[in-house]
Amino acid sequence: MSGSFVVLEGIDGSGTTTQASLLNSWLVEQGVPSRLTREPSDGPIGSLIRLILKGRIAGSPSSQPFDPRAVALLFAADRLDHIDTVIAPEVRHGTCVISDRYVASSLAYQSVDVDAEWVKSINLMARQPDLTIFLRVGAEAALERITKRQGLHRDLYETLIVQKKVAERYEALLADGAMANAKVLDGTKPVAELALEIRRVVAEQVLEVKRLSL
Ligand code: TYD
Repeated sequence: MSGSFVVLEGIDGSGTTTQASLLNSWLVEQGVPSRLTREPSDGPIGSLIRLILKGRIAGSPSSQPFDPRAVALLFAADRLDHIDTVIAPEVRHGTCVISDRYVASSLAYQSVDVDAEWVKSINLMARQPDLTIFLRVGAEAALERITKRQGLHRDLYETLIVQKKVAERYEALLADGAMANAKVLDGTKPVAELALEIRRVVAEQVLEVKRLSL
């Protein structure tokens, strides 16, 4: 039996990491083979991207920031490696793969600085998820969560202006039908309530529901 590929998307602070992890734990409890993963991935290119995002690697000898086009290419390259080494083999073995972020993150984030059509074109080789759950949260609310969690420390992208732009781009993707098999949920709901909604959607749309208890 072939597995399925589920993606969680949303702006920074929308709860994708928390909810992906809760979904994975629930699936394990239900006896459904599942695998939690993320992008940037834990592979070599993903690890490099994380260092770049944290500002721990400078772009050039004169310490300029990285060219956003180069970063977009790294995300796309990481994705193909992630598909090849984790997603495709696991799905083939009947696992439900849950990824914290995927192509839509590139379309939303990289298109802030780089031509959106080009970003789309470099991601054309990436397989489509069976389900993309978008957690909708306003930029202000999301930033408040991040500030509570991390204090003043911020990743490169975690500023309100950028997050607002990213949120607008996610909405445009949804309006254009460019987010594969998307389901929008209210990310401002309490964690446990949202987790239950996500289970329902996953059970209905990608799993055989009858033997699962919500
Ligand atoms: P991470 O610390 O994993 O963010 P979070 O746990 O808050 O989701 O860092 C991932 C960052 O990378 C996040 O700001 C979104 C960004 N990103 C892109 O810009 N493009 C992409 O293709 C992906 C997958 C992530």
